Amino acid sequence: MSDAVEVPQDMNIPHSRPSLSPQEAAAVASVMATGHIAQGPVMENFEQALALRIGRSQAIGTASGTAALHLVLLAMSIEAGDEVLIPSYVCTALLNAVNYVGANAVITDVDPATGNMDPFDARRRMTDNTRAIIVPHMFGCPAAMDELLALGVPIIEDCAQAIGATYDNRPVGSFGHAAVFSFYATKVMTTGEGGMVVSDSAELADRVRDLRDYDKRFAYRLRYNYKMTDLQAAMGLVQLSRLDEFVGQRRALAMNYRAAFDGSKFQVPAADEGHIYYRFVMGVPGDPAEWIRHLAVRGVTCARPVDPPLDVLLGRNDCPDARAAWQRHLSIPIYPSLTTTEQDRVIEGILAHSEVTR
Ligand SMILES: Cc1ncc(COP(=O)(O)O)c(C=O)c1O
Repeated sequence: MSDAVEVPQDMNIPHSRPSLSPQEAAAVASVMATGHIAQGPVMENFEQALALRIGRSQAIGTASGTAALHLVLLAMSIEAGDEVLIPSYVCTALLNAVNYVGANAVITDVDPATGNMDPFDARRRMTDNTRAIIVPHMFGCPAAMDELLALGVPIIEDCAQAIGATYDNRPVGSFGHAAVFSFYATKVMTTGEGGMVVSDSAELADRVRDLRDYDKRFAYRLRYNYKMTDLQAAMGLVQLSRLDEFVGQRRALAMNYRAAFDGSKFQVPAADEGHIYYRFVMGVPGDPAEWIRHLAVRGVTCARPVDPPLDVLLGRNDCPDARAAWQRHLSIPIYPSLTTTEQDRVIEGILAHSEVTR
C-alpha cells in the first residue's frame, strides 16, 4: 500500500486519549455547585481513597507528579552535595526535581527488556553520598524492587506510569520510603494535571503537607504552591473507582498486540503479570522515526516512549542499554477507549510497514 494515503482528521488515532465519562463531568459540576473549588474536603477524600488503594497510611495531593517528587526530596532534606540515582530512560521530570534541590543526579543504565533501572548498574554507581534512588516503573511494568531495595538506600518509587500495577502481588507505590503518582492528561487515570505523594512515614507526610502550601503559616520558610484543587480531586475519585476497569482493558488490548506481533520481527514487551501497559513499547527493525512517519500517514500516531535518554541529553553518553532501547523502541496507541477497529488499523499499519523494512 502506498504511503500517500490521505486520512481524514477525524479518523486519526491519537497516541494517548483520556478515558472520561459523564460521571467525571457530574462530579466536577457538583463541586462547582458547592462554591468551594480550591483544595478542600474532596481532595482529602481523594487522598484517603488513594492511600487505601495503595496500602499506605499517608497520602498528600499535589499539583503534578513533578511537584510530588520535588516535595519528597525536600522532605528528605536532600540538598547540594547529595547524590540521587535516577535511570537514564525516563522523562526529564526526574532530573528537574533533583536539580530543583541542588543535588547531583547520577544517571544509571536500564534493563533493556523492560526499560527499568538496572539494579547492578545502580550498585556500581553508588557512593557514600548516595542519599536516595528514584525508581520509576516504566510504561506500567514494575521495576525489580527486591534487587533495588537490597541496595540499602531509601527508595522513592515513581508510579507516574504505573498506578494499578503490582510487584509480587502488591501494589507498586507500597514498597519505597515514599512513592509519587502523576495524574497528567495522558496518564492511566487523570485529573488534567495533578500528583500524589504516599508514604507510611507521618513525619515525611507532615513535611510534604507543610511545604505544599504557604498560607496561614506563622513562621517563614521557603514554601510552595503545589496544591491540588477539589475540582481535580472530584475527577480523580471517579477515575480511581474505574482504575480496575482501565487496567483490564489495557491488558486485553496488550494481549491482542502480543498475539499480532509475537514471533515476528518485533520485540514485544516483557511478559510480567503485574504490568498494566500504560504504554505498549515494542522493538522495531530500522529507525523508529521512520515508523512514526509511516504510521502518521495512515492516521496512526505513534511516538518514541521517551525523549533521548538523560545521559545523552547531558552529554555523558555512558548508558549503552538505554541508548540501544531508544534506537529501536516504538510506542503504539493503547488506552481503554481504543476500539477494536482502531486497534486493527494500528496492527495493519505496522504489519504493512514491516513488509518493507528489514
Ligand atoms: C516517570 C515519570 N515521572 C514523573 C513524571 C512527571 O509527572 P507530571 O507531568 O505530572 O509532572 C512523569 C510525566 O510524564 C513520568 O513519566
